[in-house]
Amino acid sequence: MASVTIQHVTKAFGTAVVLDDFNATFENGEFVTLLGPSGCGKTTMLRIIAGFEKPTAGSVLFDERAVSSGKVFVQPEKRDIGMVFQSYAVWPHMTVYDNVAYPLTIKKVDKATVRKKVERVLQAVHLMQYAQRIPSQLSGGQQQRVALARALVAEPALLLLDEPLSNLDAKLRESMRFEIKEIQREYGITVVYVTHDQTEAMAMSDRIVIINRGVIQQVGTPREIYTNPANPFVADFVGKIEFLEGVAGDGRIELDGCGQTLPYAGPLSGPVIVGIRPEQVQYAAEGEGDLHGTVRTHFYLGDVDDCRVDLGGGKEVRVIADPYASTGLAAGKTLHLKVRHFHVFPRAEGDADFRKILT
Ligand SMILES: Nc1ncnc2c1ncn2[C@@H]1O[C@H](COP(=O)(O)OP(=O)(O)O)[C@@H](O)[C@H]1O
Ligand SMILES: [Mg+2]
Repeated sequence: MASVTIQHVTKAFGTAVVLDDFNATFENGEFVTLLGPSGCGKTTMLRIIAGFEKPTAGSVLFDERAVSSGKVFVQPEKRDIGMVFQSYAVWPHMTVYDNVAYPLTIKKVDKATVRKKVERVLQAVHLMQYAQRIPSQLSGGQQQRVALARALVAEPALLLLDEPLSNLDAKLRESMRFEIKEIQREYGITVVYVTHDQTEAMAMSDRIVIINRGVIQQVGTPREIYTNPANPFVADFVGKIEFLEGVAGDGRIELDGCGQTLPYAGPLSGPVIVGIRPEQVQYAAEGEGDLHGTVRTHFYLGDVDDCRVDLGGGKEVRVIADPYASTGLAAGKTLHLKVRHFHVFPRAEGDADFRKILT
């Protein structure tokens, strides 16, 4: 088992700084996900942990032992790590059994031990009955599980997974999430998982590290990240949200453009950004809502109603609500809306362009 501590890690390729003062600790046995848009530095961070890249500055510790620092550099093969990449490479000419056994056979582990360990891991990934097949006789998902088994067979202290499910179809991706979690529990290892898929991160992680342009935005449990996002980028990246600008003061927020207000007892005053998650908006009776508007578009999706409501002045809010709570929704209908919860972030005076950071 191993904890991982990343201290002030910065990585530059030439003049491009792709990780900027990265600090985080991943606890023993924890499932941590690095989540962020493509190009934000996730793979680079994983490769630094693995020892395939050296940080430009800062250090990486496994437990209390430095594996990368100004003075120390432990080679990847000495780090006791298993790793699976997006483009999982399994050897096409070897059977599943031999693919998985390979990391042990090159270490000259005795045959009986190899058999025991390979069988345990093949059982864990549900591939026992395919042990004598070659990869071309397996589906994509099964091949990915071969790669996973091979990464686990030497019983590493730390498993690094870089978008391991992104080449699989949606249904398989979902079932593999459960399998990876179960395997982690069985082996009791620390997992650092990389993905740009927020649902995957929410479903699997004990904690999520949200990264944008090489900078950590927030570290927290899925619930903390979702219910208490540190800034508009996080709020936007995880879950659905719509932003409105406004001005806070006197127990309320006056929303720009539409002349409507929301009750607000929080600490901010002056210009703010209000983030409203569509599932936090409910239909209300006339006189009981916070907001009102007319339905601009409406999609009945069976399990939910998804509408965009025009608040006036070009502002709108999205509502994802129980379709049984309202019938006869149609474009043009007037709605009263209660906002159960919303997020408020400070906004620099005259900063009309905060949306730029969202993309
Ligand atoms: N070896 C390299 N040389 C130069 N630039 C690189 C190298 N590896 C990654 N980068 C750049 O670093 C940034 C982060 O890349 P990466 O860590 O792969 O992001 P992610 O995995 O989040 O998509 C990107 O802009 C990428 O082009
Ligand atoms: Mg990547």
